[in-house]
Amino acid sequence: MSWISETKYRWYETLAMNIIRCGRVPRHIAFIMDGNRRFAKSEHIPKIDGHSKGFEKLAECLRWCLDAGIQEVTTFAFSIENFKRTEDEVNGLLDLAKEKFEKLLAEEDKLKQHGVRIRVIGNISLLPLELQQVIARAMICTEKNDKLFLNIALSYTSHDEMTQAVEAVLRHGSDTLESEDINERLLDECMYTRQSPAPDLLFRTSGESRISDFLMWQLSTTVLYFTRVLWPQITIWNFLASILTYQRASHHLDNFKEQNCRDEKHLIKTSSCFTDRVQSFLYRLDMYRREFLLKLSKVK
Ligand code: FPP
Ligand code: MG
Repeated sequence: MSWISETKYRWYETLAMNIIRCGRVPRHIAFIMDGNRRFAKSEHIPKIDGHSKGFEKLAECLRWCLDAGIQEVTTFAFSIENFKRTEDEVNGLLDLAKEKFEKLLAEEDKLKQHGVRIRVIGNISLLPLELQQVIARAMICTEKNDKLFLNIALSYTSHDEMTQAVEAVLRHGSDTLESEDINERLLDECMYTRQSPAPDLLFRTSGESRISDFLMWQLSTTVLYFTRVLWPQITIWNFLASILTYQRASHHLDNFKEQNCRDEKHLIKTSSCFTDRVQSFLYRLDMYRREFLLKLSKVK
């Protein structure tokens, strides 16, 4: 199963997609793909097959996103909390991820053709070394693509992301930064998501209306969409319904975001963010993270 599925739309699906595209489409959408095991149970198949079906649905969903004109997708594939599941399930999920990243490397040309850049966000040092390596290779080999950014949250929680951001400031900034440099903008630049705008829309399946420690730093102005449908069962109609919900809500959000932006400007002015000290710290942090990936990608 490829990362971007070849979907053939029925005429009325194309019509609905075109109508939705006349309105404002989210620039960035985030997915919590929940309900794979309940789906597996209902179909009397092993749990891991439920997760495989979940991956197939992700590939279909990426095709809808590309065709709808969405530029960035962030999806929750494995939480740090998921390490507490049975050994069999954890190993099964991590093996599935490795298999899919290997497949991705074999599909480099197709991803280039669609302009898909892969970024894994999360504490990847908690993953098996072989998986870390294949992730690093996938990130490096797609880094020049710039049409659809696909961020996969693997070994991720927001609590960990925020903790790592503070750790980065202490570890790499102790000799450059002053206490007045520490502010929201600086921490934002230290998050795993530092290269992305905040999601405009969060889509969660399976009837749970929780955030589950996902992108909690980033979701303050995001429109939330919950559906009872299990992830492997969502259809293009659920997807389009979520975009419609965003279109209805985004009008009110504009005023709110404008206010937020004014507040942020005030914050920056009073805290002298992005001084030369901050810039040299951020440069050093970027270099460190890139070196880490390069080294990993070259390990035989
Ligand atoms: C949540 O359903 C789903 C997961 C924990 C795993 C999601 C992973 C995939 C869809 C595979 C993606 C792989 C890559 C490489 C992107 P659940 O297990 O919590 O099911 P339940 O809510 O019914 O118990
Ligand atoms: Mg679940």
